[in-house]
Amino acid sequence: MYVAKQKVKGKDYYYLRKSVREGEKVRSKNVAYLGKDKKDAQIKAKKIINQIKDEQKIGNFLTNSAPDPARINKNEFVSQSRSPRRGRVKAKKIINQMNRIKQTSDLERSLKVSNEEIKANSGRICINSSSGKSQIKEINSLEKKEISIDEMAVFCKRKGFVYASGEIYGGLAGLFDYGHLGVLLKRNFETLWRDFFLGLDENFAEIESSEIMPEKVFVASGHLKNFNDFASKCKKGHIERADHLLEKNLKQRFEGLTSEQLFEKIKENKILCSVCGSQIESVEITNMMFPLQLGFGNNIKAFLRPETAQSPYVNFKAQLEVMRKKLPLGLALIGRAYRNELSPRNFLLRQRAFTQAELQIFFNPSKINEHEKFEDVKDYFLNVVLSDERSKGVQKIKCQNLLERIPKFYIYYLAKVQQFYFNVLGFPKDKFRFYQLNEHEKAFYNKYHFDMEADLDTVGWTEIGGVHYRTDHDLKGHQEISSENLSFFDEESKEKFIPHVLELSFGVDRNFYSILNFAYFYDDKRQNVVLRLHPKLAPVKAAVFPIVKRENFEKISEEIFNDLKKDLKIVYDKSGSIGRRYARNDEIGTLFCITVDEDSLKKKDVTVRIRDSSEQVRIKIKDLKESLKKVINGEENLLKLGKIVNTRKK
Ligand code: GAP
Repeated sequence: MYVAKQKVKGKDYYYLRKSVREGEKVRSKNVAYLGKDKKDAQIKAKKIINQIKDEQKIGNFLTNSAPDPARINKNEFVSQSRSPRRGRVKAKKIINQMNRIKQTSDLERSLKVSNEEIKANSGRICINSSSGKSQIKEINSLEKKEISIDEMAVFCKRKGFVYASGEIYGGLAGLFDYGHLGVLLKRNFETLWRDFFLGLDENFAEIESSEIMPEKVFVASGHLKNFNDFASKCKKGHIERADHLLEKNLKQRFEGLTSEQLFEKIKENKILCSVCGSQIESVEITNMMFPLQLGFGNNIKAFLRPETAQSPYVNFKAQLEVMRKKLPLGLALIGRAYRNELSPRNFLLRQRAFTQAELQIFFNPSKINEHEKFEDVKDYFLNVVLSDERSKGVQKIKCQNLLERIPKFYIYYLAKVQQFYFNVLGFPKDKFRFYQLNEHEKAFYNKYHFDMEADLDTVGWTEIGGVHYRTDHDLKGHQEISSENLSFFDEESKEKFIPHVLELSFGVDRNFYSILNFAYFYDDKRQNVVLRLHPKLAPVKAAVFPIVKRENFEKISEEIFNDLKKDLKIVYDKSGSIGRRYARNDEIGTLFCITVDEDSLKKKDVTVRIRDSSEQVRIKIKDLKESLKKVINGEENLLKLGKIVNTRKK
């Protein structure tokens, strides 16, 4: 890499360039704009080159999956730095970063289902209009880039989406913090979730409740007795989840086995500890809840809730009173759940504190074979893997053709969940499926259990939620332990019964991860990542910039920014070259880059660049806000709202 000077209208501009071989020819490509001052340019260049070298080291570490950051030669840093102290500090910083990555890097690559399609959804994105129609747009220079979990962790950290909690102290396994962009994306997901699921029925509403709950709640729900993991312990004392150990070695799922059965399988297959290679000596049961002692000097026992679901169950009676006293009644809750996972791993996919979005639908069990809107979905095809037909892989089955196996009420909500993924979030159609769990695999409270799964890069099919028919398991338990009458009297049929529950359960962090996974593209022409988030999910809708730092351009840019920010999440960006600003925004998924230039002064219009295609359109400033809103809502195509700029001529 080298510093190059370019003279434009008598002025000097400095760039950092690199030589790139393209076939027979060697071309020079700009890496960064370095400003107008030679000395500053040289300092900036050095900084950028060092940064790239560091990132390469981390990149190599990730791709080689080096087992031990300790193999990094600290002396290399010392000899390259101005002082030995600086070198040591730098080495420590990089090694710490690698250690953090390592914590999240025990990949479950083995869980891929062999006969599934894993072809990347190259160059395609599904953008949905509010009417539910989807447009598939092909953009050739964009390529779906496969991203591993480690790389995603680094990307999220670099862009400030998510990083280890308490990172300055080295972090704790399984705990993460969301930065402001992460929060915006997560909130956008939650808003879409609320709008869609609460919109399904007038009698569905949201509640919020304490994350700490009395012990009795979990006696009633069965979590105290049954919410367990199985810990394999080796000769040297290393603990690991026994089912994960088996899965990793035998490349199959192991759900629903007892501790004895798991231990037998481990012995039978001569499986050794994955940390030190020594023999496994036992498999023990461990409860996954976090116990708490409330107050001092008393014996009030409580737990952090391991699922949000128990909150709506204990709120059922109160909410039924104030709502319409009618079933089905839906209580939704988006909030934190806590599990003392034995081996938290895979970044956001297995944490100890995570967010769930769950809807509990209380209904009359004698009406499980009815749903007044079933006609709307009867011909809708579901992507399913049936528990007794797994060898057939994912089947596309019409809702009405599942009626022999599953009740109508349940199928209706399977359809709604899939429509949420395809029509609202724009998931690729071959990357989502329902996976039916069999008798041994189902959660202890479920009668029917289908997991929602996303086919994630490098790890394959991963559970991101579930549709659970929990029967009256929970309300019956709470009625018994609390001695409150939780039955419902149906005025029409004069029946009295304990309502049954259908639960739609979503892991928000796993959905967040999947959204990023499917949005992660690379543009070869632009040479940067393009995060092709759905317009409604994108954390930042537009970036406004003056083409150069000039007072009159900045004044108009600020006016536009101040006006747009009242209605949309917007950023104002005036630092760096236009190319850098485009790239920075592409990488966080900003939909539009709005540039104020010479023409804006005369014609009162701006250039709006579209993230995915790089196409540019001139739009009148007075029409800007409404035009952007229409495009974000899927009502209009920006190319039709203004004059297309021919960027080739420029
Ligand atoms: N209320 C039902 C329930 O909690 P679950 O299958 O245990 O069911 C629901 O959890 C969803 O919560 C999962 O499908 C997953 O998306 C998410 N989830 C569970 N454990 C998690 C963890 N340790 N880290 C991140 N997400 C998790």
